[in-house]
Amino acid sequence: MTDDSSVKQVRRAPSRPADIQVATAGIQVTDPACDIRAWQTHGVDLEEAVRRLHVVRKFSSEPVSDDDLLAILDAGRHAGSSKNLQRWHFIVVRDHETLVRLSAVGQFAGHLAGGVLAIALVTPDPDAADSPLSVMWDLGRAAQNMVLVAWARGLGSVPATVYDHELCRSILAYPQDRHCEYILNIGHPGADGTLTRPLRAGGRLTLPEVVFSERWGQPLSTS
Ligand SMILES: Cc1cc2nc3c(=O)[nH]c(=O)nc-3n(C[C@H](O)[C@H](O)[C@H](O)COP(=O)(O)O)c2cc1C
Repeated sequence: MTDDSSVKQVRRAPSRPADIQVATAGIQVTDPACDIRAWQTHGVDLEEAVRRLHVVRKFSSEPVSDDDLLAILDAGRHAGSSKNLQRWHFIVVRDHETLVRLSAVGQFAGHLAGGVLAIALVTPDPDAADSPLSVMWDLGRAAQNMVLVAWARGLGSVPATVYDHELCRSILAYPQDRHCEYILNIGHPGADGTLTRPLRAGGRLTLPEVVFSERWGQPLSTS
């Protein structure tokens, strides 16, 4: 589903799998068709996807289909944002030469040269005096939507942080009042099993390390 006409279709046919548009249309989540626990994205359980998601830096040469690309972009634009301002643009890059040039925009952007599809995430300048922090919060939500939908469709991804902003601007030609801090590299994993392998042991802090109850430092206890 990539356009809002499909949303109307879903509303008329509630037996179809629930999606975010249905949830925000006010349909009760107790409706079996909208039960969040039964909510599957292309056969991948949402909680499982969140738990297993990790970055992929090596991609095969298989192109990303237009269907997958549009679903990923659509997931990005559906993210909620502060005051619904939607301060983002997405520049899709598939040209090999451009990907190679972009691989020089950051110290850890080399993986872009071996990819087939990049999406540059463009915002207003987050360092501008009047720029609220929510610009980057919102962008992170859009990016995570894209990454999860890519994952659900069997595609891996990894961000590249932009350090050389003038080089990036000269390649992608966005205006002076825009900024690109991150470029998402998305593609079919270069090796079998990359998506299904478990996270590295110790790859994430444990709950007690990051969660407090009621006030800083007090552990959370659950029954
Ligand atoms: C804001 C942000 C910027 C990142 N920038 C880069 C980058 O420039 N190059 C890169 O290879 N990985 C980058 N990453 C990927 C992180 O290194 C990766 O998410 C982290 O090491 C955890 O890896 P895992 O998800 O595979 O466990 C970035 C991730 C985030 C969230």
